[in-house]
Amino acid sequence: MSSSTKPRFITFEGIDGAGKSSHIGFVVDLLEARGMRVTSTREPGGTALGEQLRTVLLHQKMHLETEALLMFASRREHLAQVIEPALARGDWVISDRFTDATFAYQGGGRHLSLAKLEQLEQWVHPHLQPDLTLLFDVPLDVARRRLDATRSLDKFEQEQDDFFAGVRGEYLRRAAQFPARFRIIDSTQSMDEVRMALAAIVAHL
Ligand code: TMP
Repeated sequence: MSSSTKPRFITFEGIDGAGKSSHIGFVVDLLEARGMRVTSTREPGGTALGEQLRTVLLHQKMHLETEALLMFASRREHLAQVIEPALARGDWVISDRFTDATFAYQGGGRHLSLAKLEQLEQWVHPHLQPDLTLLFDVPLDVARRRLDATRSLDKFEQEQDDFFAGVRGEYLRRAAQFPARFRIIDSTQSMDEVRMALAAIVAHL
């Protein structure tokens, strides 16, 4: 990494079926080819405890506030053990989801008060925000077709269209609220077109 390049925190977001996860390796490879050290991780999860919480969160029904609190509990551990140390040693960090997902899923999808989520965000990471958030956006019917073609669905993936409409709406609202940080990727495009868009964004970092 050149000494003038500050490490960055990049997050990937989107509704289930938007196809973001298939592009993370591509962006990691692009950054590594430019000499960056990259820590690639995910939420919920990213630590041993976080992965245990992920299993519970993705498969067990619970009160919606319990769900939000466990998302932030996983995140607290993730920040302490993975994200903050990686940024401190100069790595770029790529996370498959972060706090925008909680606003979108627990806020937009489950209608938990955004003010409560903002309080948790202020508690858990008052001073850290991603430098760049790539929002993979697709209409619900495209996401649904992609999900239907996959393996057994987890608790979130089994939700109905009105849930995903709320999730997508909140993602797009946040993208409009924080335009300096968000880039919206039209994920209805072909794999190659999405990669070209990502390469152009990475080239400008
Ligand atoms: P993934 O399938 O992209 O790995 O994400 C796991 C699921 O967890 C996905 O359906 C979105 C959901 N989720 C939330 O509901 N809130 C959150 O804060 C995070 C990080 C994920």
